[in-house]
Amino acid sequence: MLTTDESIDLARRAVAHFCAQTTDQAPDTMRLAAETYTDPERYRREVDRIFRQLPVALALGVELPAPKTYRAMTVMNVPVVLVRAEDGVVRAFLNVCRHRGAQLCKAGEGKLQRFVCPYHAWQYDLKGTLKGRYGEATFGKVGPDTHSLTELPCAERHGVIWVCLTPGEPFDIDRWLGDIGPKLEEMKLGSWHLHSQRELDGPGWKVAWDGYLESYHHTTVHPLTVGRYTIGNLTLHDTFGPHQRIVFARRTLEALKVTPEAEWDAEAHIRRIHLVFPNLAISGVIGGHCLVSQMFPGATPSSSVTRQTILCAHAPTSDEERKLTEEFSETALRAVRDEDYVVGAGVQQSLDSGMVTSFTIGRNEPAIQHFHATLAQFNTEQR
Ligand code: FES
Ligand SMILES: [Fe+2]
Repeated sequence: MLTTDESIDLARRAVAHFCAQTTDQAPDTMRLAAETYTDPERYRREVDRIFRQLPVALALGVELPAPKTYRAMTVMNVPVVLVRAEDGVVRAFLNVCRHRGAQLCKAGEGKLQRFVCPYHAWQYDLKGTLKGRYGEATFGKVGPDTHSLTELPCAERHGVIWVCLTPGEPFDIDRWLGDIGPKLEEMKLGSWHLHSQRELDGPGWKVAWDGYLESYHHTTVHPLTVGRYTIGNLTLHDTFGPHQRIVFARRTLEALKVTPEAEWDAEAHIRRIHLVFPNLAISGVIGGHCLVSQMFPGATPSSSVTRQTILCAHAPTSDEERKLTEEFSETALRAVRDEDYVVGAGVQQSLDSGMVTSFTIGRNEPAIQHFHATLAQFNTEQR
C-alpha cells in the first residue's frame, strides 16, 4: 500500500482524535430551514444554475476505454452521448439528431464507427460533424455548418469526464477544481479497473447527499456494513474552495497507537472521500477498492438518482480477489440502498409533511455545513 507524507499526516490527525475521542469540528452549529430541502423554486434554481451550468462529472474515463466507444445517458432530462473519437479525445453531444430529434444511441455503452440515426439514417462522424444524409438530393440543402451535432463543453481530467449541460458555456476545469485537482490526480482513477455500475433511486438530492458528508451516523445506521470498518463520529475535514475532502478512520487505526510512525502503513487505516461540488464523491483506499457516487436531482425536490460505480485497483486475478471485490460492491449497495436511503426516505417524508421547520447541523458535521454554505452562495448569486 502506498504511504506518503500526507497519509502519515492524515493518520496522525486521526490517531490524535481517536485517543481524545474528538473529531474535526465547525466553529458552531448551523440551522437549516426546511425549505432548503423542499422549496420547489430553490430546487429549480439548483438544477438550472448548478447542475446545468457548472462542470458536472458525467462518467469516468475508464467507462470509455478505447477510441470509438460511447456512453449514452439521460441526465436530468437531457439526453447526452459521450464518445471517445479516433483521436482519443472524449467529446459530449446532445444525443439528438439535427433532423427531427431522434436519439442517436440507446442509453448504455457500446462501440461505433459513426453515429447513424435510427429514424432516417443521417450520419455523423465521432466529432459530431454531419457526414451524410439518406436521400440527400431529395431532402433539400442543409450542411454540416448548421446541422452537425450540438456539442456540450467537455473535459477529461484526473480520470473523470466533466461536462457542462449547457451548450456554449465553456469552462476551465483546472480553475474550477483548484487545489482539489492534485488530490484527485493522486487517486489515479484512470488506471483503476471498472467492476460494476448501477443506479439507485433515493430521497431528495440534498437529503441523500448530506449522508455522504459525515460519519456521525455510521455506528447507528451501518453496524453491519460501513460501521464495521470505520470509526463512527471521527472525521477529518479539509476544504478546497467549494470542494472538500473528508477522511474516515478505519477500525484498524487503533493499532497505530502502539506502532512507531516509521513502521506505519498509514494509507491502510484511512479512507479518503473527495467531494467535488456539487455531486461527486470518490471514496477510496488507494491501492484497494473505490466507490464513486454521482448524485443527480430527480424529477422533484423529493427524489434523486445516484450512479454508483465500483472500482478496484486492478482486475481481480484470483477467486480470493474476486470475492473481496464482490463483498466490497455488495457492502456499498446495502449500505446506501438498504440503510442510508431507507433513513433518508423517512427524513424526506418528515420534510414533505410540512410539519418540520428546521434542521440543526452539528459542529461534528462540518462537511454538511460547508456544502450548504456553498449551495447558499450559488442560490443567491445573480448569474
Ligand atoms: S431524425 Fe434523424 S435522420 Fe431523421
Ligand atoms: Fe451512510
